Amino acid sequence: MRVLITGAAGMLGRDVEEVARHAGHDVVALARADLDITDAGAVHHAVAAVAPDTVINCAAWTDVDLAETEEAQATLINGDGAGHLAAAAAETGAHIVHVSTDYVFDGTKPTAYVETDAVSPASSYGRSKEAGERVLRAATPRHVILRTSWVYSEFGHNFLKTILRLAATRDELRIVADQRGCPTSTLDLAEAVLSIAPRLIAGEDVWGTYHFAGSGVTTWHGFASRIAAAQTPFTGRTPRVTPITTAEYPLPARRPANSELDCSLFARIFGIRARPWTEETDRITRVLVEAQVGTTQHVA
Ligand SMILES: NC(=O)c1ccc[n+]([C@@H]2O[C@H](COP(=O)([O-])OP(=O)(O)OC[C@H]3O[C@@H](n4cnc5c(N)ncnc54)[C@H](OP(=O)(O)O)[C@@H]3O)[C@@H](O)[C@H]2O)c1
Repeated sequence: MRVLITGAAGMLGRDVEEVARHAGHDVVALARADLDITDAGAVHHAVAAVAPDTVINCAAWTDVDLAETEEAQATLINGDGAGHLAAAAAETGAHIVHVSTDYVFDGTKPTAYVETDAVSPASSYGRSKEAGERVLRAATPRHVILRTSWVYSEFGHNFLKTILRLAATRDELRIVADQRGCPTSTLDLAEAVLSIAPRLIAGEDVWGTYHFAGSGVTTWHGFASRIAAAQTPFTGRTPRVTPITTAEYPLPARRPANSELDCSLFARIFGIRARPWTEETDRITRVLVEAQVGTTQHVA
């Protein structure tokens, strides 16, 4: 299977590339410097030249707070850029797998969101990603949109890495406890993304929109507490993790109070569920802290 990955230097893009290569696929991985998805001509040229079976779009504007003042730029990437890729894929007969977000929902539903729930983004980032879903659906029926949430990884900027950095220097971490969601490791997500394309290539009618996120639900406070506990055996540090409210930690963009995604449709159709979020959180924390401790010892 020949896959074209965009946004290949991002958190998810890196793992999608690695998992795809490991599975023996023929991979063309393009970072932003190789292909800017807002450049329609370059997108059409690249997709035609690579002639992939599947385009996997991992490129996105992901700075949720900056999007509040830069919505046009965020929409250019998350909306128009996704549309250029979908149009180019349609022209060449390729499928497209596109990653979207829990932020297309406003978070007011008391239970987990299913794919058919009405979207109602409450932030600029959410609106830009919802625009991407719409243009993608309009451009080609041969698409899968995978909504995910609270993504973390060994690489890039993410909540887990921020908590580890703070745990190394602070005795108290004050973390929001009134937003709930499903932390999702890029490795689980990459495996889910790559399980889709072979089914599309086999001609199965599995097109559409799905939810995929780490198994289990927690709050940012619960996530931080788990990370803090997982680093203690390696560092000996035991910072106190204090629950606070969203109102006590104001940010430019409104976050959904409930981000829980019901992933049972994806599990039923593709046979894959993410590992419990606690498992991947412990593993990645261990990998990062061991690397850090190793570096420190080496330097000393
Ligand atoms: N992170 C989360 O918590 C989260 C939650 C839900 C859904 N998602 C979705 O998951 C997907 C993967 O995100 P991620 O977490 O891997 O984010 P990420 O680490 O920020 O990766 C996004 C990548 O896209 C690149 N990019 C930005 N503008 C581009 C453009 N015009 N053309 C080509 N590439 C461009 C970025 O390059 P530069 O760094 O050079 O700008 C970056 O390498 C995105 O669709 C995101 O919306 C993420």
